[in-house]
Amino acid sequence: MKNLLILAHPSLNQSFSNKKIVDGLRSTPNLKIKDLYAEYPNFNINVEKEQADLLLHDRIIFQFPLYWYSTPALLKEWQDVVLTYGFAYSFTNSEDYKLKGKKLMLSVTALGSMDAYQTSGKNRFTTEELLRPLAQMAYYCKMDFEGSIVSHEMFGQVPERRQEVERKIVEHIEKLKKVIA
Ligand SMILES: Cc1cc2nc3c(=O)[nH]c(=O)nc-3n(C[C@H](O)[C@H](O)[C@H](O)COP(=O)(O)O)c2cc1C
Repeated sequence: MKNLLILAHPSLNQSFSNKKIVDGLRSTPNLKIKDLYAEYPNFNINVEKEQADLLLHDRIIFQFPLYWYSTPALLKEWQDVVLTYGFAYSFTNSEDYKLKGKKLMLSVTALGSMDAYQTSGKNRFTTEELLRPLAQMAYYCKMDFEGSIVSHEMFGQVPERRQEVERKIVEHIEKLKKVIA
């Protein structure tokens, strides 16, 4: 199975977790890594190239830090311009669901704790609930949504917490590798 990981981090040079997760996956067979912000720093997405790339892969993985309970802006822009009518969905022609049957999974880092992402917690919703627009996007495009791997409390910039974050990064990479294998 051919996997495409789409990384969306607006400042990868300041990233601790996403950078390490992606670096830990670089030598994984059957995995292509695409750094969206490096390719399109001006948000000028090459739609045809992106669509062609999707067609070449069986599983798409969105890798991103949770930003305001959602994706960073360029990944939303990517959805808006790449997943077009006649390519990703149609009202008339079932042949126009070109992503049908492909898998989508989410690989997410967040600062908030697991406790905070509970109905009774300060973020009031679970990450699964907050990420539902992406699950629904997959469903609408007749893709197979495989769920999310979410790592919480990724305080990599805080020296005292770095060791704990590094351990979570290793676990996060292992979970992803199991899916990709
Ligand atoms: C603009 C912005 C918005 C953020 N929004 C959230 C949020 O809604 N929930 C959360 O848990 N963390 C939020 N964070 C924290 C990031 O998710 C966190 O710093 C990141 O996942 C750590 O990964 P990195 O080391 O690769 O940057 C936000 C950070 C920024 C800069």
